[in-house]
Amino acid sequence: MNWKTLQQNAYTPYSGNSISCIVESKTGKFFTGVRVESITYPLTIPAIQSACCICLSEGEIPAKIYLEDSDVEHLNYWVDEFEMEVLITKNPPADEHQNLFHVQEDDFKSLPKLKELLKKSVTPNSDFPVSAILFVNGGYFEGVNIEVSDWTKGLCAERVAIAKAIAAGITTFLHLDVHTKKGEVSSPCGACRQVILEHLPYHIVKLHHADGTLSEHLTVDLLPFSFKSSVLKK
Ligand code: THU
Repeated sequence: MNWKTLQQNAYTPYSGNSISCIVESKTGKFFTGVRVESITYPLTIPAIQSACCICLSEGEIPAKIYLEDSDVEHLNYWVDEFEMEVLITKNPPADEHQNLFHVQEDDFKSLPKLKELLKKSVTPNSDFPVSAILFVNGGYFEGVNIEVSDWTKGLCAERVAIAKAIAAGITTFLHLDVHTKKGEVSSPCGACRQVILEHLPYHIVKLHHADGTLSEHLTVDLLPFSFKSSVLKK
């Protein structure tokens, strides 16, 4: 394991600034985060936000952060938030990293899994749990919404699932399922629609509504006339 290998998973078509980092949880589990850029630059997920939110989404608390160098966005915020120890190192920890890919069993059903997943969401501010499952060849990645003291630094369930898969080196996606138990419909926010569209451009999003009904939407239909630019080339 070296930084270069981890950095290869970063999605940085606009800057090429392929940052990755590793968060070690209080129980000694390792979670990788990579920078995930958006063509809408302010929607970019910094590596440290990705790693911390992924760690939290797995029910773990960040305790240490491993970085190649300290030039990382929002480092102080995350370090203070979890009183993390910062380790700047030429070699990332070689210990076993969490494999967050789940093999999809033949009898797999989305809704029961989405309902179960809601329990993992971290929503001290909203008490509004959301869950997402991002399907890939042979399996899936789970996402729940994560809230931290700074509302702008949490992540929606959909983006946690996408950030997790990308950090694991997966870039081919099948479809995304979303659920919330509150509200009349389960519906991704505008920011998520943008990010979903970038990674699942011709795909289906399945919305499992609170009343048990399901609606399926093409990602382009969820974000018509979306932002594009030939200047911001990939
Ligand atoms: N939320 C999601 O997880 N996904 C969405 O698409 C809509 C909003 C979360 C974010 C925050 O934790 C809570 O719902 C209230 O905004």
